[in-house]
Amino acid sequence: MTVATTAQDPGPGNDEPPAPPEPLRVGVLGAARIAELAIVKPARATGTRLVAIAARDRARAAAYAAEHGVEQALASYADVIAAPDVEAVYNPLPNALHGRWNLAAIDAGKHVLSEKPFAANAEEAAEVAAAAQGSGVVVVEGFHYLYHPVTRRLHELLASGDLGELVHVETILEIQDPGPRDPRWSLDLAGGATMDLGCYSLHAQRVLAPWGGGEPELVAARAGERAGAPGVDEWLEARLRFPSGATGVARCHMAGDHRQMTCRVIGTRGEALVPNFVEPHLDDRLIIRTPGGERVEHHGTRSSYTFQLAAFSRAVREGASLPMNVDDAVANMRLIDACYVAAGLQPRPRMQKASVPPARPRTPPPTNCSAGIRRPS
Ligand SMILES: NC(=O)c1ccc[n+]([C@@H]2O[C@H](COP(=O)([O-])OP(=O)(O)OC[C@H]3O[C@@H](n4cnc5c(N)ncnc54)[C@H](OP(=O)(O)O)[C@@H]3O)[C@@H](O)[C@H]2O)c1
Repeated sequence: MTVATTAQDPGPGNDEPPAPPEPLRVGVLGAARIAELAIVKPARATGTRLVAIAARDRARAAAYAAEHGVEQALASYADVIAAPDVEAVYNPLPNALHGRWNLAAIDAGKHVLSEKPFAANAEEAAEVAAAAQGSGVVVVEGFHYLYHPVTRRLHELLASGDLGELVHVETILEIQDPGPRDPRWSLDLAGGATMDLGCYSLHAQRVLAPWGGGEPELVAARAGERAGAPGVDEWLEARLRFPSGATGVARCHMAGDHRQMTCRVIGTRGEALVPNFVEPHLDDRLIIRTPGGERVEHHGTRSSYTFQLAAFSRAVREGASLPMNVDDAVANMRLIDACYVAAGLQPRPRMQKASVPPARPRTPPPTNCSAGIRRPS
């Protein structure tokens, strides 16, 4: 049976909220591949303004701005953060640069929507979380899937008891090899399958804590190293156990046979499968199997990134609550680090200051304008 649900894609709380009174003004760090899907299109859909972008190459930033409707291209990431017009910073830089630039943005009093994972490792994540706490700015790790109705409905099936008690969860994130030159194969840039994909497969297990008696703990992990990239995981499999006794398996593979991003939850009364929980704009199904039969629900192809940006804007503008806070980001990084150690690898190193792309402002700042703003050096 196929069921068309309420799929005008309600936002969190099941209602499409009114647009924020004043569009949020966002600055973008880097002309990243993911930016078009994760911020450009959502900005268009939500009426958010993209007021500035910078790339290491200014001409490329200008071309990106012209193509995607960003209002101005600036000379450096630091310029974007310092721009008075920028209220919030979207950080889609390579993983090793997340923590550093998230910190710089918080220090400048800017709200932050950071790409996942939050930082290179748990230690750095804790530093960012500590800076965020009490800063008065909203700091969010971009687990966009959480905001989509398909994930909310999955959780509702557990909360309502429709699936019974939680027994087992399987999350699989797999993509085909993105090519040898991809920054995600660089240890220095905090690459690896677990950083890129496993962060989702682990997170989607952790958010089931309310139905597993608490957060799952790691039982064991194994990984395969990328040939020619010592320390970088091509794949990783983690086995987890919830306090209730429910079990979990989280797998990720960055050079797999095909693309797969599934979450399967088995309960004592039935099971639910989200065939693509990370990209529900491509496949919005939720398949529910009980002894009574199988039914398929559709939860809408409005992108999870759009839901995320709408929620982020409401948090900034109206103080609306978000499903996750910075402590969650630290907890996820701790689990990632623990997986690496259990699999015989090391947590990702923090980037050495000397390797960080220059954060020079275009012109030397007036002596009184950098007060209170700690720039990465
Ligand atoms: N939310 C999602 O679904 C999703 C999907 C894919 C990726 N991501 C995350 O988003 C981030 C970006 O991913 P992406 O695939 O879009 O990355 P990408 O295009 O390969 O790189 C992002 C940007 O990093 C900048 N950069 C700065 N220093 C660099 C260095 N030393 N080497 C290479 N690039 C450098 C480049 O900026 P310039 O433009 O300044 O040169 C580039 O535009 C990653 O953290 C990834 O985990 C999220």
